[in-house]
Amino acid sequence: MLRRLSAAVVLIAGLAACGGAGGGAAGGGGGGGGGGDTITLGFAQVGAESGWRTANTKSIQDSAKAAGIDLKFSDAQQKQENQIKAIRSYIQQKVDAIAFSPVVESGWDTVLKEAKDAKIPVLLTDRAVDSPDTSLYRTFIGSDFVVEGTKAGEWLVKEYEGKSDPVNIVELQGTTGSAPANDRKKGFGDVIAADPKFKIIASQTGDFTRAKGKEVMEAFLKAHKDIDVLFAHNDDMGLGAIEAIEGAGLKPGVDIKIITIDAVKDGMQALADGKINFIAECSPLLGPQLMDLVKKVVKGEQVPQRVLTEETTFTPEQAKAALPERKY
Ligand code: AHR
Repeated sequence: MLRRLSAAVVLIAGLAACGGAGGGAAGGGGGGGGGGDTITLGFAQVGAESGWRTANTKSIQDSAKAAGIDLKFSDAQQKQENQIKAIRSYIQQKVDAIAFSPVVESGWDTVLKEAKDAKIPVLLTDRAVDSPDTSLYRTFIGSDFVVEGTKAGEWLVKEYEGKSDPVNIVELQGTTGSAPANDRKKGFGDVIAADPKFKIIASQTGDFTRAKGKEVMEAFLKAHKDIDVLFAHNDDMGLGAIEAIEGAGLKPGVDIKIITIDAVKDGMQALADGKINFIAECSPLLGPQLMDLVKKVVKGEQVPQRVLTEETTFTPEQAKAALPERKY
């Protein structure tokens, strides 16, 4: 569940995220792991499960470099215990700040308290935690995943407007327990619940990967002969499912309508080719804003508790127009 935060919410355009972070030498106030005036940031990434994640990692690494921030980066391979280990190691190294994208929502309080006791500020990026104690982190920058699911559901409702036949939907969920899987499911489910013709006949995790998306879709196709729609919580699972649908002799986008989330280049190409029907965007370009927030937090400045990324949606025509300029 997306956390409701009472403090100010700042909206930042997703595309603005492509720009630099201000460049030059890092602001002062450091003196942790990096020594001198250079800020040292420990970043515990989820993994490399999707095109989105690859673009997000690049955005973080490029903008840390542009901002003169010394980045210590770790890849948790989608395992919470690896992220916790990485965070503990950053605490031991006395970094100036820690940022991470929590693989799942629950189970962070202990390690976040350890960081707080060590007086190391923590910034959440991309995904939320479900801790009621918001003093455990300084800010959370990322998308509203419920809204993304809502947009996917609204497209579907419009697509089947005026039709009364049942619409059988299969759902490929993201990583179990993760904020985007929980919130996208909720946003989509709440919208389609208003019309009983929409039925989710199967829903399973594909762990946000292309391989798992293909595997689970193959199982869906074997178990159900009457699938009308696939809702995949990200492009990569949708792209894997397309392989499964084609392997079963069906036409993706025609025999089975496909809705995904992210809008990475490969997804946008499939949308332009008519294999996906609709994509709700989720911007991975969080690096520049994150580095600005890190500098402010380390200097002891106030930052908003929530920084929301602005995102759009794409139809096939819009994907064709956007593809030449697409950055990821
Ligand atoms: O947390 C963002 C999600 O994680 C993206 O939608 C997905 O592609 C990634 O793996």
